[in-house]
Amino acid sequence: MTGGGDPVVRRDRFSGGPARSFLSSMDGDGRIFEADLAVDRAHVVMLAEQDIIGDEAAAAILGALADVEAAGFDALPPGEDVHEAIETAVVEAVGRDGGKLHTARSRNDEVAACIRYRLRADLLDAVEAVVALRSALADVAAAEAETVMPGFTHLQPAQPTTVAHWALSYAGTLARDTGRLCDAYGRTNESPLGAAAFAGTTFGVDRERTAALLGFDGVVANAADAAASRDFLLEAVSALASVAVTCSGLAADVVFFANRGFVEVSDDYASTSSIMPQKKNPDTMELVRATAGDAVGAQQALATTLQGLPRAYNRDLQRATGHAWTAVDGVTSAVEVAAGVVATAGWPADDLEAAAGEGFSTATGVADALAAGGLPFRTAHEVVALAAERGGEGATLDAVAAATEAVTGEPLSAVVEPAAVADALDPVESVAARDSAGGPAPAAVEAAVADVRDGIDADEAALAAERASLADAADALAAEVSGYV
Ligand code: ARG
Repeated sequence: MTGGGDPVVRRDRFSGGPARSFLSSMDGDGRIFEADLAVDRAHVVMLAEQDIIGDEAAAAILGALADVEAAGFDALPPGEDVHEAIETAVVEAVGRDGGKLHTARSRNDEVAACIRYRLRADLLDAVEAVVALRSALADVAAAEAETVMPGFTHLQPAQPTTVAHWALSYAGTLARDTGRLCDAYGRTNESPLGAAAFAGTTFGVDRERTAALLGFDGVVANAADAAASRDFLLEAVSALASVAVTCSGLAADVVFFANRGFVEVSDDYASTSSIMPQKKNPDTMELVRATAGDAVGAQQALATTLQGLPRAYNRDLQRATGHAWTAVDGVTSAVEVAAGVVATAGWPADDLEAAAGEGFSTATGVADALAAGGLPFRTAHEVVALAAERGGEGATLDAVAAATEAVTGEPLSAVVEPAAVADALDPVESVAARDSAGGPAPAAVEAAVADVRDGIDADEAALAAERASLADAADALAAEVSGYV
């Protein structure tokens, strides 16, 4: 059946020349070694079930794949890529019949399947990290609902808010980022196998079967689309870039807060200077912030690589894949670190409350109080602006009363109960009064925390279900394989 000393693999005509290493993707292919073994197994099982190859050949190939796996990626024989190298190893072990492995397929549908298979797992890890960060933010919100702090626009003191409200603002963005990752996951989780080079195959393959054996939700219908498209990579990397951009804002806030003494970053996440012994720097968050550069760079590089590629397969695609690994690795670890920083941060309540009133940050609430008394808001704005011209001293009841009289010709008491203005001038009261849905008042935050936690629970359940479905598929494939070997 297998002529012992026959030259069973003949690829020496091409790619042995000076461009050999330039052509090779072996350097990055370790990442899809396990994926390729799974894809090979599912393909062989399907080929045998469809009587495209015999059970005996299938058994020999599946046995050889087990040995290849046990020996590991580094033990593979030379090859242009992991697909070729594994096939070579199988043929070396089995003889000519090993060459049946590549019946009814091409490396084009094979590599696309491997990337999708591996990226699927990586995206679930990214989702898990983002959900954990949301959970850390929800915990901060629950614990710091009453911790008043300054809120900023243009990095200038704007209105008092709470640590909880700040934390929930990022939990909200990250919930949408999670949705984007899950959308990308859904479109990654489709099988291109059976597309062969791009134009299908003369063999009676069962594409749904290989898809099911690999835990894919379905198939990419058109064979050329299946082999050539990498929009799933672009979508995944874009979703990751969005996460990174969100986290860069969170990181910028923490760096700024640390500078002002508004947050105590745990020593575990701080660094010091090699020369200035007194320094405690929030380096981790600066690196989290910089990860957005890597992720957006990967997105840009990927889109630039893909744009203008004609149908169907072009070798350019080999260079597209790495950008996805850069993005998913960098962003996932940055999110994990950000979650650690958030979970361990200290919030000095007294300092924060003292700072919350700085810069007449209660001015909007004072204008609101005057308007609630019947003054048109624009006039109230004018009154408070006049008081604010006196700087910090303007943030007193007397200053507001003087400004009211100057603008309206009436005493403050004719406009509104002065006690209402006194309340509005107090940062704690100012926050408590902003109890509209989504606002920082503790009661509004309490409701928001419950909603955020519901969202987290739902995403955690969906994640667990997805992981279970992949694990079931892997078990089912292993069971099929053990029927042969
Ligand atoms: N290693 C290649 C990749 O990553 C797959 C090889 C397909 N090669 C080809 N000449 N069609 O895309």
